[in-house]
Amino acid sequence: MIGILDSGVGGLSVLNEIRRRLPGHAVVYVGDSAWCPYGTKEPEDIRNRCRTICDFLGDQGAEIIVIACNSATIAAIEILRTEYPLPFVGMEPAVKPAAQASRSGVIGILATEASLQGEKFHRLVSTHAGGVRVITQPCPKFVELVEAGTLEGSEVDAAIDEYTGPILKAGADVLILGCTHYPFLSRAIRARLPDGVQLIDTGEAVARRVESLAGPAGDGSTTIYTTGDLARLEALLPKLGPGLDATCHRLALD
Ligand code: DGL
Repeated sequence: MIGILDSGVGGLSVLNEIRRRLPGHAVVYVGDSAWCPYGTKEPEDIRNRCRTICDFLGDQGAEIIVIACNSATIAAIEILRTEYPLPFVGMEPAVKPAAQASRSGVIGILATEASLQGEKFHRLVSTHAGGVRVITQPCPKFVELVEAGTLEGSEVDAAIDEYTGPILKAGADVLILGCTHYPFLSRAIRARLPDGVQLIDTGEAVARRVESLAGPAGDGSTTIYTTGDLARLEALLPKLGPGLDATCHRLALD
């Protein structure tokens, strides 16, 4: 079974990619909506929360765990790898492909505060950005909007303009979606970007990595746990996981 975790519903963007690539594998997803956002929390608290969820996923029979959350990847994945006898796959903003694709020599990375402050993030940028200028921007409203199921409209457009305006003004021609909640807004973001500005997401690359590590297929079931409101998750699912045949449960975590 493939275990997946995120601070909330954002990681469903990764689950969707994994489902497309590995339709026969059993998947258990934990969305920690009761404790969302992770992006404003301390790394040590994020690590402890991830340990609790990984223990649960291990008990459920996870053979591989996908940290479908950039903030949790940055704060916790290195230590989790030393603590659990399981392969972990995490999210990494695609700095190298973005730097290579940029013609203006300026790229933007949209991510949470926790991701942008992480040491792992700084290492990634200094290793892969080459001579390209990197402008970073936390986008907390994007997470709130996606958790509420608001994927378009004036509030979304205003947040997009606020967050992308300064980066575009600085000449960026490639923007990286460095948080798993943001791809749910990619259609709205694309509609407001000038021609020639590219948007890069890492969900598909992560699904390919999971495919290369996963064992034989299972029963193809999808089980989703939320630490938040079950009825809200069920209402959001047709929007965030269209066509997903999932069983949903509430999960109480201490
Ligand atoms: N989806 C998460 C990420 O990829 C975090 C959103 C949040 O909880 O702040 O970083």
